[in-house]
Amino acid sequence: MDLQTVRKMAKEKLGGVCRVCPVCNGVVCAGEVPGMGSLGTGASFKNNVQALAEFKLNLRTVHDISNPKLSCSILGMELAAPIIGAAIAGVALNLNAAMTEEEYTAAVIGGCRQAGTVCMTGDGPKPQFFEAGISAVKENPGFGIPIIKPRETAKIIEMANLAAEAGAPAFGIDIDAAALVNMTNAGQPVSPKTQADLEYIKKNTTIPFIVKGIMTIDEAEACCAAGVDAIVVSNHGGRALDHTPATAEVLPYIAEAVKNRITVLVDGGIRSGADVLKMLALGADAVLLGRPLAIGAIGGNSEGAALVVNKVISELRTAMILTGSADVSNISEEVIW
Ligand SMILES: Cc1cc2nc3c(=O)[nH]c(=O)nc-3n(C[C@H](O)[C@H](O)[C@H](O)COP(=O)(O)O)c2cc1C
Repeated sequence: MDLQTVRKMAKEKLGGVCRVCPVCNGVVCAGEVPGMGSLGTGASFKNNVQALAEFKLNLRTVHDISNPKLSCSILGMELAAPIIGAAIAGVALNLNAAMTEEEYTAAVIGGCRQAGTVCMTGDGPKPQFFEAGISAVKENPGFGIPIIKPRETAKIIEMANLAAEAGAPAFGIDIDAAALVNMTNAGQPVSPKTQADLEYIKKNTTIPFIVKGIMTIDEAEACCAAGVDAIVVSNHGGRALDHTPATAEVLPYIAEAVKNRITVLVDGGIRSGADVLKMLALGADAVLLGRPLAIGAIGGNSEGAALVVNKVISELRTAMILTGSADVSNISEEVIW
């Protein structure tokens, strides 16, 4: 199987909800939620891709770095590269029912595991969304990280403890889903959380706690103060709020404020190894891959997902050699022109 075949298969199975564009940039799918697109004008998704494209890399080859170190330790997990699968749930709703929720989560976790890394899983109004993630974690202990919607605090704690029992190495909440109407309409209220709520969740759970959807310095600081283990600088791929800045734009300010006190992850528009290198240079410890991984899994199951991750890893290696970067854990900001 090759990536071209995987993409062709994905396009057929997605039946128009995703056009599998040459560059996945949010332009043709603006306003398509449910679907693979983003809310409203699509500005938040488009900003993510555009801002990353605007950062340029310094080409440097007068050095002795030909075998850079890509492996790293994130929240106690040993990864082949600082690249993690993002949570994507609602296959029936968003992905043209191209697979069942169970098949999808098994494919993304299996593919990431084959490539030497881990994958997050999602949550939603139907219990199967979260349960599919838990089943895949049980099959692959240590390789799946359930991300829970910002439900009532007691419910989050209950679900996080289920994740821990299943063998998850960490859990999280996508706090930026705080106004998701399909959850509220289904009688499962979501809401913003206070610093005290986050502190309470941390105190009543046993595995590392990730807060996904942080876009400002003050909220990153609040997560640090609450004892949260990691944040994901994320605008939910443009699916939460229209007109946010790009994640690559806010990341350097957030990372400068909280780096070394909390693990800083980022997602949004990362499409290549060069993009990963840019995010590391801007201050991230690791990145999440969203839509490209979904396309790989839909087109080629776990093998397709692994092909996508391995392609990005290989591009990252090349970009590191050509920028004189020896170790993913210590990428200089001078990599950026
Ligand atoms: C169809 C779809 C479903 C998603 N479902 C979830 C989810 O259940 N939980 C979550 O935390 N994020 C969810 N996300 C957001 C992703 O985890 C991630 O933040 C985003 O896709 C990253 O941007 P990228 O796709 O440009 O790489 C979803 C994204 C898409 C496209």
